[in-house]
Amino acid sequence: MRTPHFLTTVPLTATEIESLIDQASRFLTPTGLAAIPPSTFAQTNGNESRIVLAFYESSTRTRLSFETAAHRLGARTVIFDSSTSSEGKGETFLDTVQTIDAMGFDVLVLRHAQNGIGELISASTSMSIVNAGDGTNCHPTQGMLDASALRERLGSLGGQRICMVGDVRHSRVARSQVDVLQKLGAEFAICAPESLLPDDERFAAMPRFDSLDGACEWATVISLLRIQRERITTDVVPSMDVYRERFAMTSDRLQKAPNITIIHPGPVNYGVEIDEDVAASAQSLIRRQVTHGVAMRMTILDSILQQRNAL
Ligand code: CP
Repeated sequence: MRTPHFLTTVPLTATEIESLIDQASRFLTPTGLAAIPPSTFAQTNGNESRIVLAFYESSTRTRLSFETAAHRLGARTVIFDSSTSSEGKGETFLDTVQTIDAMGFDVLVLRHAQNGIGELISASTSMSIVNAGDGTNCHPTQGMLDASALRERLGSLGGQRICMVGDVRHSRVARSQVDVLQKLGAEFAICAPESLLPDDERFAAMPRFDSLDGACEWATVISLLRIQRERITTDVVPSMDVYRERFAMTSDRLQKAPNITIIHPGPVNYGVEIDEDVAASAQSLIRRQVTHGVAMRMTILDSILQQRNAL
């Protein structure tokens, strides 16, 4: 059997996705996380599993929720600080991974700016790689937690109409949301300025809106996306006034769409894509998405540790 990884949601079937969401739901209460003894979960040869978190890009919720999830499973975590690593002295990324591997870690949770880097190194290490976001490629645990939070709120994803609004072009979250939620029966549309529209094939057949007003008439869910300025090198974004007028989920817009559910992976930019009172409203799942993030990452890490024990 091969080392298990969690690099993308693409190989998962709808049944497998539903099963992971079911498992994650056991770790949730209506307002937070359930207290479950760590002894319930997989260990490594009877000892605490060891998980290293290597984030080469900024993160608050993904890094902390993986760390929280690992601790809830009774695993030990170590943070790798990419800004002070020996890559600054010329060591290659692969050497870095193999050096970490030689210290006996079970899982490497990796965020990196390069698309597909987890896949690239996965055959060169005995650690299981969990993709915590790679470039514009995908953010598989985010797609899974979004599906989990939406299923809890809406009951079923079948027939839901989800409009992604904002910087779809540079969004790894959008790519994972589409993969996971389409398999569960949701339809997608896009609402973005011309310069932030994606050009890959998977988005080609989706309805497009050039203003959130039209999108709100179509959608049951609005998935807001931050402008990914760290991936934009030229001045392609319209003026903030124009952007806000056409693409921001403002309080006024929300009042006219009382049945719409709002999701956002975070971090949010208030006054740009969303107003503060929209994020805090009962229609918003933003904080609940974060809680689902811990539950889903517990589920994925535990599944990987179980699969490793069966090797
Ligand atoms: N949603 C998300 O990936 O947030 P962070 O960048 O804070 O981890």
